[in-house]
Amino acid sequence: MRQIWITRAGPPEVLQVREAPDPEPKAGELRIRVEASGINFADILGRMGMYPDQPPIPVVPGYEVGGRVDAAGQGAERSWIGRDVIALTRFGGYTDTICVPAKQVFARPAGMSALDGAAIPVNYFTAWQLIVVMGALKRDETMLVHSAGGGVGIAATQIAKHLGARVIGTASASKHAELRALGVDHLIDYRTEDFEARTREITGGRGVDLILDAVGGDSWKKGYRVLAPTGRLGMFGVSAAASGKERNVLGFVSLLANTPWFQFNPLSLMNANKGVFGVNLGHMWGEVDRIREWAEGLLDLWAQGVVKPKIARSFRFEEAPQAHHFIQDRRNIGKVLLVP
Ligand SMILES: NC(=O)c1ccc[n+]([C@@H]2O[C@H](COP(=O)([O-])OP(=O)(O)OC[C@H]3O[C@@H](n4cnc5c(N)ncnc54)[C@H](OP(=O)(O)O)[C@@H]3O)[C@@H](O)[C@H]2O)c1
Repeated sequence: MRQIWITRAGPPEVLQVREAPDPEPKAGELRIRVEASGINFADILGRMGMYPDQPPIPVVPGYEVGGRVDAAGQGAERSWIGRDVIALTRFGGYTDTICVPAKQVFARPAGMSALDGAAIPVNYFTAWQLIVVMGALKRDETMLVHSAGGGVGIAATQIAKHLGARVIGTASASKHAELRALGVDHLIDYRTEDFEARTREITGGRGVDLILDAVGGDSWKKGYRVLAPTGRLGMFGVSAAASGKERNVLGFVSLLANTPWFQFNPLSLMNANKGVFGVNLGHMWGEVDRIREWAEGLLDLWAQGVVKPKIARSFRFEEAPQAHHFIQDRRNIGKVLLVP
């Protein structure tokens, strides 16, 4: 098999393709011949040596794949063999062959390509947990989503619009026209505008009901301030930690210094009627049965045309460094994939 390894912590060029013998599925596992692997921002932080969940480098990153099952380990249903699937992988997803526990494998409906399939798990499960499970977004409420042009941002917009909510998104200015066409009602260029002031203006001073914020640091402070009464702030990442393409200790210290350790406290939350919560899909491995229920709902929405993965670009395995540059240069509108 061919895999993409993070050979050491560093810039995108540390990603290298290496060959290894094909793995054999262990008890309860299915082996998948991978046709597309999703790239997530966590892989980028991992490549820079800034992602505590990742096993030690050298490592094969990757949380999700689309492909076809070709072997089943002892105790795993043999009827999976030959079926098109998508799967959550606990690292190791940047590969052309992988074995994963059967419960992390989902049937890929007829008509869904392996590329679209690989674009679904992390982005849509995260968006679902943020909006439906924990954020309880309702019709006519307003949601503010940061990095609206990213994989999670686009998934979140599709789900929120389906629920009948209004969406405000922050993104680099070059993405605004396309994001408007994808359903974002109001766009803010966070690089030249203050998103807190603009959000107040857009909502006539009231603020928003739900915020999805994976930027972190100061952004969480401003977001908390701009929540309307009963508003909820969902925190699920720290992209602000990636100020360059290599580990930057000063940037990380500044992120920590700007984190609102004391702004949210039991009394302020109670008196302001605001809620804050966190999401980390990578810490939900004990809850895969629940995630399977979310997947059913999402695949139903895919059949209805509501869930519509937007692929920004796919790169060959050899081009993995360019794929990471593409994301870190903030050029992607949608999901970035790797194909073997
Ligand atoms: N907790 C979880 O379970 C979970 C799951 C999935 C993702 N996440 C988090 O959600 C965020 C978005 O993930 P994603 O996979 O949707 O992202 P993505 O598709 O890789 O999006 C990248 C976009 O993020 C924006 N961005 C903001 N800060 C950035 C920075 N410092 N460097 C580069 N780009 C930056 C850029 O767009 P603009 O310039 O247009 O804003 C960029 O194009 C990340 O922080 C990720 O870690 C968390």
